[in-house]
Amino acid sequence: MNKTISVIVVAIVLTTILIISYKPEPSVEKKRIGVKKIEVGERIKLPEPIYKSNISVEEALLKRRSIRTYSDENLTIEEVSQLLWAAQGITSPWGGRTAPSAGALYPLELYLVVGSVEWFDKGVYKYRPEEHELEKVLDGDKRGELAKAAIGPNQEHVRNAAVSIVFTAVYERTTAKYKTPVYEERTGASYLRGIRYVHMEAGHAAQNVYLQAVSLDLGTFVIGAFVGDKVKEIVNAEEQEEPLYIMPVGRID
Ligand SMILES: Cc1cc2nc3c(=O)[nH]c(=O)nc-3n(C[C@H](O)[C@H](O)[C@H](O)COP(=O)(O)O)c2cc1C
Repeated sequence: MNKTISVIVVAIVLTTILIISYKPEPSVEKKRIGVKKIEVGERIKLPEPIYKSNISVEEALLKRRSIRTYSDENLTIEEVSQLLWAAQGITSPWGGRTAPSAGALYPLELYLVVGSVEWFDKGVYKYRPEEHELEKVLDGDKRGELAKAAIGPNQEHVRNAAVSIVFTAVYERTTAKYKTPVYEERTGASYLRGIRYVHMEAGHAAQNVYLQAVSLDLGTFVIGAFVGDKVKEIVNAEEQEEPLYIMPVGRID
């Protein structure tokens, strides 16, 4: 009888230990990074951005800094969604965005060069603000090539960042309207005003990304020093688009 009770007790103890120590093998869904193969042309719906945070605009301005060293941790899809929305997200029924735009003509386009983001396999994706979606345009890890296209000592940071946001612009969207005021007539450069506007807009959008990164506790910086034609080729930008900025983003080391 005692023996039977002992066997039962041992069995209960062993079962309890087994239950406690059982850790299910993470499902493919939970591993997430790099497991979902996305086809070129496929679009991924980004999660709805969050409109509240624990950090004030003043604190974000105070803390904003160019941060160039990152850990090798991935970004989440929510973080990517938030960063792209901050740059060019649509915030009004008529199409108004987070960043101002001369004549509401929106000349900027954004590409996301993905190295390490949950759900997304490595590649280049184009942001579609109207649907808040990312469309895959190229397969493969392009961070090395993008790093080489950057000029100067900061190539390593591009290679190590989880993602880089590449800003391009279609100048004609703005220059078609903004041309030939007095100054330009004097200099003969009829499209200068429109070109200036496009550059100003890239600055607005990039500053939004800087501040959003502070709020998410991520590091970023702007790169203006790069070989434009190479960057254009690397992200497979459209013929009429010109690259203006690269913003690597990663988790702060
Ligand atoms: C138009 C522009 C171009 C820039 N280009 C580069 C660049 O190519 N590489 C780089 O490391 N930082 C670049 N920066 C970042 C500046 O180096 C940085 O903003 C400056 O050192 C001040 O530091 P802070 O951003 O932390 O305040 C650029 C900044 C601006 C506004």
